[in-house]
Amino acid sequence: MFNWVEGLVAAAFALGLSAGADASRYDLGRTPTTAEIAAWDIDVRPDGTGLPDGRGSVADGQRLYDAKCASCHGTFGESTDYMALAGGVGTLASDQPVRTTGSKLNYATTLFDYIRRAMPFNAPKTLTNDEVYALTAYVLNLNDIVPAGAMLDRASLIAVKMPNRDGFTRQHGMGSVRGTPDTRAKACMHDCVANVRVTSELPEYAKGSHGDIALQTAHWIAPQAPASGSAAAIATAKGAGCMACHGVAKGVIGPAFVDVARKYADDAGAEARLVRKVEEGGSGVWGSAPMPGQAHVPAADVRAIVRWILGGAGD
Ligand code: HEC
Ligand code: HEC
Repeated sequence: MFNWVEGLVAAAFALGLSAGADASRYDLGRTPTTAEIAAWDIDVRPDGTGLPDGRGSVADGQRLYDAKCASCHGTFGESTDYMALAGGVGTLASDQPVRTTGSKLNYATTLFDYIRRAMPFNAPKTLTNDEVYALTAYVLNLNDIVPAGAMLDRASLIAVKMPNRDGFTRQHGMGSVRGTPDTRAKACMHDCVANVRVTSELPEYAKGSHGDIALQTAHWIAPQAPASGSAAAIATAKGAGCMACHGVAKGVIGPAFVDVARKYADDAGAEARLVRKVEEGGSGVWGSAPMPGQAHVPAADVRAIVRWILGGAGD
């Protein structure tokens, strides 16, 4: 992993972004500090490369889990509102595979890496390394992979063998293209197709499961039109992370914004109530999945987004 970082830093040098007088020449970024690189360079490999010092017990993990994770993942890691973390071990090859963190992962180090970089969903990278070890231990315990008295550190985490360690195959892809896995193309050496058409295909059941991806990514890939009115509200909602859980026309974890608009169409007090709900979070109106409080979003932005939603959430 360090080679990679050095490569990046070297590339920055080559571009003249980092050294002295040249730094401002392109008016583009600045040299990252060693601390910034260290904070970003946190990947953990299957063999444990990159695991930090630290340790944590199942018991500590349970305490943390109940406080910071159970609201979304369920007391026993069983909730499918967000993602089930436990159960399903041994079912993957059956007719009804139950894919959970415990049943599908092939290396426990990946679980550590995932929690450390991405969870809790509403406050990623706020856990200490000891806390991540403890939470990893607890999630493994929920899956009966380590005993209740277990304490994990670098060496013992590397030694954990996940039930699905040998279950990964390359015999199937994400989808199939005319009966062939989409990820197993053979290099063509003669009589090849003259005009290659690049296509991609998701299995039917996965389509739409993450909302409107075109809409979620348009912000980064389309040239930005000058923001005004709804365009500004949409950009604000994307920037604030709302679209991770909401689609305009399709619910993801939270309801579709057009459905919210419909529900409160004749409700004059809705704006003030929804602004408070978004700021404080809550559940029970659309289902059992909670919306975490969005206190990181400036109040004026929340109000602008809610107004846009209540106005019909159009472009
Ligand atoms: C606000 C809800 C929320 C909270 C709180 C939360 N998570 Fe998650 N978690 C999610 C969502 C949503 C995903 C799926 C993210 C994705 O697929 O991009 C997820 C995914 C995961 C996964 C990966 C599941 C898999 O196998 O693919 C793990 C492991 C996990 N969370 C652990 C934790 C732990 C540990 C905590 C507490 C420190 C926590 N989560 C707190 C919502 C939450
Ligand atoms: C981690 C997922 C998540 C994120 C991020 C999120 N929401 Fe939600 N949102 C939900 C869920 C789940 C509900 C349903 C809550 C309920 O049933 O009471 C919801 C409900 C709502 C509602 C309807 C509330 C009601 O009582 O009818 C509005 C409006 C809303 N969200 C706006 C936003 C806005 C604006 C943002 C961004 C600042 C945002 N949400 C970010 C998950 C999320």
